[in-house]
Amino acid sequence: MKVIGIIGAMDLEVEKLIEAMDLKEKVEYARRTFYVGTIGNAQVVLARCGVGKVNAAVTVQMMVDKFGITQIINTGVAGSLDEKIDIGDIVLATGAVYHDMEAIAFGYERGQVPQMDIFEFPTSKELVELADASCKKVNPDVKTFRGRIASGDQFIAGKEIKNNIKGWFNPLCVEMEGTAMAHTAYINDIPCLIIRAISDKADDSAEMDYPTFEKKAAVHCANMVIEMMANI
Ligand code: ADE
Repeated sequence: MKVIGIIGAMDLEVEKLIEAMDLKEKVEYARRTFYVGTIGNAQVVLARCGVGKVNAAVTVQMMVDKFGITQIINTGVAGSLDEKIDIGDIVLATGAVYHDMEAIAFGYERGQVPQMDIFEFPTSKELVELADASCKKVNPDVKTFRGRIASGDQFIAGKEIKNNIKGWFNPLCVEMEGTAMAHTAYINDIPCLIIRAISDKADDSAEMDYPTFEKKAAVHCANMVIEMMANI
């Protein structure tokens, strides 16, 4: 049986998904709340993980260990690193890297986790296809893009760091959790999907844009995930 783990970064987004859920149980564990139930016919475990890589990774692992999830979907916002990708557009990650992993002194390429067998953490092609089709159906005015995302424990709001990350990894967008979730999914052998709505341009205007566009982004992501649950 499939059990879908869904992790949202924003209260608003999680609230909308909880409303859409037939809630069976609420479990408090490790200072987070796990909502267990169904959306449509899909068995779902939902949580808001908090900000950053550790919060993201531990929440996925708890969902695997305690709730037996068989796949993980992460939704949230991100800063665009590509001029073609505007505020309000959605990025579906085809792979994920850490922009703040660096062990060059030991001969590793920037971003490579030492002693790991891969450089970029994969996401599920099937889930990307389903997400794209679901988005086109429920958010027909929203553009979707597919490509690499970069994550790190840093809100990117300056040209220099933005350009560095672009030059190092050529990702479509930057955020703070997705790669940690893809990493945890990889070591547990479960498929992963990362959906990110663009809230800012990761430059000097980022702090101002973020709160304005966060809400709209959350609604688009939640609609898309609800539609996905009908066909997963
Ligand atoms: N999430 C949304 N915007 C972001 C940014 N500019 N940097 C990191 N994470 C983000």
